[in-house]
Amino acid sequence: MLFLCVAFCFLAAWFSVDCNPSPVLGDVVVDRYEIPKDCAREAKTGDYVRYHYNATFIDGKTLDSSYEKGAAKVGLIGEGRLIAGVDKGLQGMCVNERRKITIPPHLAYGSNGAGDVVPPDAALVFNVHLLDLWNKADLVVTKTISTPKDCKRSVMRTDFVRYHFNGTLLDGTSFDSSYNRKQTYNSLVGEGWLVKGMDEGLLGMCVGEIRHIVIPPFKAYGLKGSGKTARQANRNYGHKYLEEKLLSRKNKVHLYTVD
Ligand SMILES: *[C@@H]1O[C@H](CO)[C@@H](O)[C@H](O)[C@H]1NC(C)=O
Ligand SMILES: *[C@@H]1O[C@H](CO)[C@@H](O)[C@H](O)[C@H]1NC(C)=O
Repeated sequence: MLFLCVAFCFLAAWFSVDCNPSPVLGDVVVDRYEIPKDCAREAKTGDYVRYHYNATFIDGKTLDSSYEKGAAKVGLIGEGRLIAGVDKGLQGMCVNERRKITIPPHLAYGSNGAGDVVPPDAALVFNVHLLDLWNKADLVVTKTISTPKDCKRSVMRTDFVRYHFNGTLLDGTSFDSSYNRKQTYNSLVGEGWLVKGMDEGLLGMCVGEIRHIVIPPFKAYGLKGSGKTARQANRNYGHKYLEEKLLSRKNKVHLYTVD
């Protein structure tokens, strides 16, 4: 028993001294330096994330940046599709949080490195800003902000409605508002005139009600974003950026009439 223990200690010491010459050992280190007050949800395995990042080596030299590429990165957590250390480091992150993830080589490109871009045994540092978060299992989520005392009639399929809305992405960026156009949005409900999420989110709403509707991307503009909206905003952002940006959305709706 004593012999085993001594042998184990010897091996452990030998490995940590000789087999791990890198300056950063062990697990990823996460520094959550900016956490938003409201964090309804934290990223976990199986979630899709959209984020901006700056990647550097431990000495601060730039490796890569999503800003330079002109598009935020979209990734799936916990399925082995991201650099292992990034995958681990994104766990538990909130939309609009900023964090610094320091990754030891064995959870990055290891002793092989990556071509002539990442040398062998290089630790990496990722500064990440999370913009969006969703899961294939997400439902449309509605929350009533205010509702009139007297609700004679609420929205059913095939109703024609008039409403005002403010549409933002999950990180708060506005993408459209009926107020800017100075006219209400008018549509049939449940007939495919609206994106699926709005068709669902408006159901049961009273005239005069104000409601908050959160729509996952696959019930809004899908993973490619909206072509029309992308074209409109092309002037400001550039096509690719906008396609990436329009992944999921949030609407605050004020219902005026149901006919
Ligand atoms: C990445 O670097 C740019 C330029 O220095 C900076 O504006 C941006 O906030 C950085 N992003 C993150 C997530 O640290
Ligand atoms: C939309 O935003 C405008 C301007 O901030 C505000 O006056 C209006 O009440 C908002 N509407 C809804 C339905 O949230």
